This record gives sequence, C-alpha cells and structure tokens, in this order.
Amino acid sequence: MTTDPTSETLAELGATSPEAVREKFAVLQARFDADIARRGSDADEQPALAAEWTGRKAGALTRIAEHWLRPAPAELKRVVGQEFQKLKAHVESVLEQKRAELDARAEAASAALDRIDLSLPGVERRVGTRHLVRQTFDELIGIFLSIGFSVVEGPEIETPYYNFEALGIPEHHPARDNMDTFYIDGSRGNHLLRTHTSPMQIRTMEKQPPPVRIVVPGKVYRRDNPDATHGYMFHQIEGLAVDTDITFCDFKGTVEYFVREFLGPKARTRLRPSYFPFTEPSAEVDASCHVCGGSGCRICKFSGWIELFGAGMVNPAVYGFVNYDAEKLSGFAFGMGVDRLAMMKHGITELPLLFGNDVRFLRQFP
Ligand code: PHE
Repeated sequence: MTTDPTSETLAELGATSPEAVREKFAVLQARFDADIARRGSDADEQPALAAEWTGRKAGALTRIAEHWLRPAPAELKRVVGQEFQKLKAHVESVLEQKRAELDARAEAASAALDRIDLSLPGVERRVGTRHLVRQTFDELIGIFLSIGFSVVEGPEIETPYYNFEALGIPEHHPARDNMDTFYIDGSRGNHLLRTHTSPMQIRTMEKQPPPVRIVVPGKVYRRDNPDATHGYMFHQIEGLAVDTDITFCDFKGTVEYFVREFLGPKARTRLRPSYFPFTEPSAEVDASCHVCGGSGCRICKFSGWIELFGAGMVNPAVYGFVNYDAEKLSGFAFGMGVDRLAMMKHGITELPLLFGNDVRFLRQFP
C-alpha cells in the first residue's frame, strides 16, 4: 500500500530544501498526469478523477494546502506557495480541457443520433406478391378474356358421371383406372376428387344454351406418386367454345393466338394427333421451344418443341349428354396444366417448389 504523501507534511516527508520541495511537487504532478492519461478521457471516470484532485473537502489540492502549505516553515513558504499555485493551475487547466473535450464528444455523438441523413436508403418493407401459380392463372385467363371467353368455376368434389361418363369415359374405360382417382366414399363410390376440369364442360352446357365460351381454372387431383414433376394435386384451365359455326380452323387459330400471347410473337405452334374420349379429333398442342427457338436445347430435349396441352374438337357424343343439337353445333375444348406451363416458361424443374411456399423461391417472381 502506498501511503498518500498529501496526508503528511513536507517535513514528515523529509523535504526540507527548496529542491526537495520542488521534487515532491513534480512527483505529484507526474502522478496527476498519469491519472489523466489513464482515466481522463473516460466520460464515466473523469468526474471521479476531478473530485479526487479538486474536491473541496478531500481533494488532493485541498490536502496539499492543508498539510504542505499551511504548516510550511517560513523559509520554504514561498517555494511551497509557488509550487502549489503551479500544480493547482496545471491540474485545473488540464481537467478543464478534458471536460471540454468530453462535452464536445458527447455533443457530437448526440447530434449524430439526432441527424436525419436524407441520403440513406429507406427501410425496405417486403410486400407480398401473388404466388407464381396465381400469376400464371391470371396471365392465362387474361389471354382468353381478351378474346371473348368468360370464367366459370366448379366443384372439386365430383361425381363419376361428370368426371367420366358424360365425357365419354364409361365404367371400364382404361382412362378411368381406379389407380388415378381419389374416391371419397370408397373405391368406385359416388364421389371423387375431380381428375380434370373437364366436368365443367358438362355442367356448363347443362346449364346454358349455346353459344358457350368459357375457361375454367381450378385444382384437380390424381393418385400420382409425387416426384419432380408430379403431385397428387395440380392446377388446370379448361377451355370450351361451342357455337353453330366453329371449325377446326377456329380451333387452330385460337390455339396459335394463345401460344403467341403466352410465349411471344415468334412462337410457332404444332398440333400432334392424340386421343381423348371427349374430343374428336384430339390433339396435343406443341410450341416451338421458347428457349432455343426450335434449334434444340436441353429444355426441349433437343426436339425444338415443347408439349403445352391437350385439346381437340368436342366429340359430338358429348352433346348427347347435355341436350345440345350435335347436328347444328360444333366446338373445341382444351385442358392446360397451369403448373407445367409456369415451370416451362420460367425454367423451373421441380414441381414441389411451387407448393413449398419457400419465400426465397417465391420472391424470384415479384
Ligand atoms: N382433360 C384432359 C386432361 O386432363 C385435357 C383435355 C381437356 C383434353 C379438354 C382435351 C380437351 O388430360
């Protein structure tokens, strides 16, 4: 423990000559300077430090006046007085200077806190966007609305009659394979989850007389094993146009118009023969690959073409189920896989991404 020299008199400290007195003061000043260097710039420490040196009752300066100056013998009074004034002036001016520095620093800090920097970018607030499937629905529907189609929706729980029979798929038809269909009330019961949006062709024609121009967006269900391109639910848009004068040319023209609207003016269309029980003739609609333009690439598996959807002229047998005059009426229908089209257009290879609702994926389609 170091004793505090200011609690003893100079005589007790053995300082009996002017040189010895000066040296004692020099030691004190060095101690003060060391203190200042260590704690003087610390806003929390500085007031305590100031009190230790200049405090009126117990500060070092007060103690020096009391123990060194007052009892000093006459021959040393002058030198002790001078040294005391020097030390006091030094301590006070250095403390004052430190205080001013700290004040300036505090002021600058609080000014920095208050200042509004107009050049800073604002706080970004994420706004939700429509899901890519929704966006694709809206885009597809928009194209058909612009050429006179209207939108209808129908039930996801259907009866075998609407989902199959009235569409020309009788009981033992392979397209009705139990494997593909979710039955609600037991295998081959009276209710099922629709496997396509085509039942709405029947429901619409049952309800309204021709002409018909509708698109039907909705969910459909199939007992597929989920993988990169299959799930047990996906989205379709059905289309149906029936009137007294609809030809295969109208069908082809409508399909070509749609493909150009959806994939761009350069896209070409190809119809391939296909089979659906409810269309005759039936076709698969292909478009020239939107990635390579038809020269062949990975996306189109080097064929230059991409399969878009199934379609065809309405099979006259269907009209028999809805009391439409098959002699006078004709029309076309199509059924598009919306998820497939979204994936194809945006180069998405994993169907589950569309249903995982991972915002890192969704945000890529603002
Ligand atoms: N319903 C058919 C399917 O799901 C698609 C389709 C609809 C084909 C309308 C022709 C006409 O595969």
